[in-house]
Amino acid sequence: MRLPVLGGTQFLGRAIAAHAVELGHAVTCAARGLSGSGPPGARFVAIDRDRVDGLNALGRETFDAAVDVAREPGRVRRALAALDGRVGHWTFVSTTSVYADTQTPGQRADTAPLLAPAEDGPYGAAKVACERAFGGSALIGRAGLIVGPGDPTGRFASWMTGSPGAARCWRRPRPRIRSSSSTGATSRAGSCAAERGLTGLFDAVAPACTRRAFLAACAAALGSSSTLVWADQDFLDRHGVGRESGPYSLPLPLPDTIGDASRDVSATLAAGLTLRPLEESGGPVTGLTADKEKALLAAWQAERG
Ligand SMILES: NC(=O)c1ccc[n+]([C@@H]2O[C@H](COP(=O)([O-])OP(=O)(O)OC[C@H]3O[C@@H](n4cnc5c(N)ncnc54)[C@H](OP(=O)(O)O)[C@@H]3O)[C@@H](O)[C@H]2O)c1
Repeated sequence: MRLPVLGGTQFLGRAIAAHAVELGHAVTCAARGLSGSGPPGARFVAIDRDRVDGLNALGRETFDAAVDVAREPGRVRRALAALDGRVGHWTFVSTTSVYADTQTPGQRADTAPLLAPAEDGPYGAAKVACERAFGGSALIGRAGLIVGPGDPTGRFASWMTGSPGAARCWRRPRPRIRSSSSTGATSRAGSCAAERGLTGLFDAVAPACTRRAFLAACAAALGSSSTLVWADQDFLDRHGVGRESGPYSLPLPLPDTIGDASRDVSATLAAGLTLRPLEESGGPVTGLTADKEKALLAAWQAERG
């Protein structure tokens, strides 16, 4: 397939482009070039989606399929206009941040209520507007937390480090709230779905998984016999431990969910979209260093006498 990835020069877009190259497709990464020029084996074309004529460099070529990772509705509309009639299939990488209700478990992509679309953000509302620009003719993959090599946040991989037998500090889960862990499935979904011409709305997240099960899978992947120490959120807040990413954090983005609230992803799996096992996920590490984690654990034990 002749496949442009609009973006394709960093993190997810780059992973999609790299996977499509592996599959033997003729891949074009189209971006400004400020973030690099895409993976080996892909062609790079310089475009600027903020300019009316910014996609001219893609000429009058035709493409079997295209993948877009944009966050700004104007960029999506400009691309659709510039490539009108020249792309056989569109995949748009969206987000579970489009959902209006993040608390009710078991919601489906095709029926869950969305935020009101907004041109200039916030993020989730702008992504709703991006999705609408495709008018129902694309594959829309709504990802939860995306992890893997090149992840600029490093939110995930600190859970996949550690020494066997060491105590690890885990944020205490609240009861009754189930969670879903999303994986790098998105990087494979884009190119594979395009080959099949699949369209529609899909959650690109794994089935629900409790935090305890998630941590057990991390420990198993490490071959670790770590003791889990469940620290209260209040204790972590008092000690200034961040919740998102950063050098002094226990980085998972939401206090009680992994990636996102639990969703019914049966339609995603029924469509043949596949999930990368948690154990195969990795990426850069942020969060507490081993020393800082040890000091935090000592403080936790000291407070309990
Ligand atoms: N990270 C998560 O956990 C998460 C969760 C859910 C969904 N998502 C979605 O996943 C996707 C992540 O995409 P990504 O990792 O590829 O990163 P990104 O930050 O969305 O990608 C930006 C890409 O667009 C290019 N770009 C930026 N401005 C441009 C312009 N004016 N004209 C042309 N190209 C431009 C950049 O290259 P240049 O700078 O070189 O132009 C880069 O290749 C996004 O759609 C995001 O909404 C992420």
